Amino acid sequence: MNDEHAVSANGKSVQGGGAASTAAVAAVYVWDLPVRLFHWLLVASIIGLFVTGKLGGNWMEWHKLIGFFTLGLVVFRIIWGVVGSEYARFASFVRGPGAVLAYLRGSFSGAGSDGAKPYLGHNPLGALSVLGLLAVVLFQAISGLFADDDILMRGPYANAVSGAISAQLTKLHKLNSDLILVLVGLHLAAIAFYFFVKKENLVKPMLNGSKVADGSTAQAASAQKRPAPWLAWALAICVGVLTYLVVTRAFG
Ligand code: HEM
Ligand code: HEM
Repeated sequence: MNDEHAVSANGKSVQGGGAASTAAVAAVYVWDLPVRLFHWLLVASIIGLFVTGKLGGNWMEWHKLIGFFTLGLVVFRIIWGVVGSEYARFASFVRGPGAVLAYLRGSFSGAGSDGAKPYLGHNPLGALSVLGLLAVVLFQAISGLFADDDILMRGPYANAVSGAISAQLTKLHKLNSDLILVLVGLHLAAIAFYFFVKKENLVKPMLNGSKVADGSTAQAASAQKRPAPWLAWALAICVGVLTYLVVTRAFG
């Protein structure tokens, strides 16, 4: 996690604004292993949850287990967003509306404004989508704990609330699953836009962790401090145990 990617300048040069300035292009480490593992496990889990949720019947047993796992995944990512490496941290990518507007203006005019500056991590607009996706998936997992399909399966906390509240949360669980589909659709559309229009492949860095950057951006990325790998493992174990205790109602 920590030591797998040294910064590797590849010796190529880029032209700056037509002037004779050149800057070294380097492959820099952006998405740490916990972020990448989180992402692809989340994708697999969400697919599994939609398939099992729609099939129903005996598949709901799997739905429950994958749902618990997804709850743990999102809790892990939220905490990793505070203690993780530079580009995983919310503080490094969550910005106010001003930055989002500047980014949009910069993207479309391509000139001068703050928005034109390259973002190695999530850009201010992408950050909104990240927060949105995390929020809807977290709500989905929590509402599932209270859901009841009136046939075979009920969430572990369905009988901790009144029947009316459980029915309401089951309804919201179904409605929110549509919202997840909408946000995932937008997410994939944004990635396709980057690939086809802006000619930038965002998927590869989500697989191998690194992006190509130049000049001061590359320098800043290579100077980033990264937590020791044991921290991610310790956090994963703690979140796993805590999630297990919560879903088995060990706390009553
Ligand atoms: C992020 C995690 C989850 C996702 C994405 C998810 C997604 C879904 C989907 C797509 C459905 C089918 C909705 C429909 O019929 O239109 C469903 C149904 C259901 N889910 Fe989940 N779910 C998640 C977590 C959970 C958890 C943790 C539980 C409980 C342990 C749970 C319990 C249920 C129940 C009981 C239903 C059936 C509702 C009914 O048909 O009345 N889900 N879920
Ligand atoms: C169930 C479907 C999906 C969900 C819920 C989802 C969710 C997310 C989330 C929460 C992030 C933020 C990552 C982080 O900082 O922790 C993210 C980023 C990303 N996802 Fe997905 N994702 C889904 C499917 C996909 C698929 C199928 C692809 C590839 C084709 C993909 C490619 C990416 C990329 C490239 C990023 C980084 C974007 C950037 O550079 O800012 N995602 N996704």
